[in-house]
Amino acid sequence: MKIFAALLIPVLLGIAPASAVEAVPPDAEVMKTGKVQFMICAACHGQTGAGTAAAPPLAKSEWVNGPVENLIRIQLRGLVGPIPVKGEMREYAGGMAPLAYQSDDQIAAVLTYVRNSFGNSAPAVTAEQVKALRSEVGKPQLTLADLAMPEGLVMPGSTTTPAAPSKVYDDLKPSGFPKWIIAAAIVLLGALVWFLKRKG
Ligand code: HEC
Repeated sequence: MKIFAALLIPVLLGIAPASAVEAVPPDAEVMKTGKVQFMICAACHGQTGAGTAAAPPLAKSEWVNGPVENLIRIQLRGLVGPIPVKGEMREYAGGMAPLAYQSDDQIAAVLTYVRNSFGNSAPAVTAEQVKALRSEVGKPQLTLADLAMPEGLVMPGSTTTPAAPSKVYDDLKPSGFPKWIIAAAIVLLGALVWFLKRKG
């Protein structure tokens, strides 16, 4: 019995919740609320999230499927200036205004809807996550430099890139030698110095 309990506890604590989080599809009610709230976004981003002359696409956008903080902050503070979306540098006069008047639940719902529609697939957004970033409201519109770079972001060729912050390029640059090689070299050098000193 004790052995059984000992086996069960790690399963209950670790494995079960971890796999449950990933497998859960977005809540149907949340998706319904999100779809209603999306009407506002659709005015600029299009009913199918494909983008319009007024705004870039949300369908398969790296930003939509990337770190959730970006999405929440974009909605709470808006966004302005050049932004790469799906390999193209885009810029819109005035950018996107903040849409912070919705409740935490409504923002969580609309972002969950966007992250699970139009071919997108990303974990649901919770009201708690939105609440945690409410202090962002009232700050100036975000720019590319304020955002966390999503995995797999495609930077367009430099000719079509106006004045993108260098931070983006730094993040995307190959980092040269892997750090462990440098660390190993330092250790080896130290050992060599010690060895030579001892001999001489
Ligand atoms: C009044 C027009 C307008 C509305 C309404 C609007 N947006 Fe935007 N959105 C924009 C523009 C313009 C940009 C590009 C900003 C820039 O120039 O940097 C943008 C950029 C974005 C981006 C980052 C780029 C991308 O394509 O992934 C996301 C994500 C986004 N909006 C989500 C939303 C969501 C969610 C809503 C609804 C809650 C919404 N937007 C409502 C105009 C709008």
